[in-house]
Amino acid sequence: MSMQKKRIAIFASGRGSNAARLIEHFAGSTHGEIALVCSNDAAAPVLALAQGHNIETFAFTKEALYNGNEVLEKLKSSGIHLVALAGFILKIPTAIVEAYPLAITNIHPALLPRHGGKGMYGINVHRAVIAAGDAYSGITIHLIDGAYDQGTKLFQARVKVDAGDTAETLAAKVLELEHRFYPKVVEGLCQL
Ligand code: GRF
Repeated sequence: MSMQKKRIAIFASGRGSNAARLIEHFAGSTHGEIALVCSNDAAAPVLALAQGHNIETFAFTKEALYNGNEVLEKLKSSGIHLVALAGFILKIPTAIVEAYPLAITNIHPALLPRHGGKGMYGINVHRAVIAAGDAYSGITIHLIDGAYDQGTKLFQARVKVDAGDTAETLAAKVLELEHRFYPKVVEGLCQL
């Protein structure tokens, strides 16, 4: 039985290391393919990386994301089935969330519901974990339902916070988990 590969769009704003792992993983997948890489930053290195893999890219402004439906139209015209947010800094507008029910994933570098919400991104998250004295941190991969860091959890993995950990060393440990598991979880969604 031949099955159509799920067409995945990645949204990334920054460094793009998770996007890179997703691109690597899906180059060898029979269930899904990265069909589009989107960013709100036309200069994001992830766009050049995608182009190097012959993946279509799409850059848009914050204004375009929130006013009008250019971004949603692009997803539709590219035949996108799944959206993987990978360090995407802006809130996904309701129209896109509603057009892609149960099909938009995000990865958060902590064990939600702890250390989520507005302003909780990047090193801030790991600083908060250290400041709280948590014994564990980790990753949460969840569906997007329109609010920051809410939505059905699909997967969590944890890592011990060691006595000598700083926000930076913890960030490195958590990022390793992200790279290891995000592609696998998105692959799992492609098989549904
Ligand atoms: C990751 O820590 C992810 O959990 C968060 O933003 C960061 C993105 O890192 N949402 P990168 O751009 O994938 O390297």
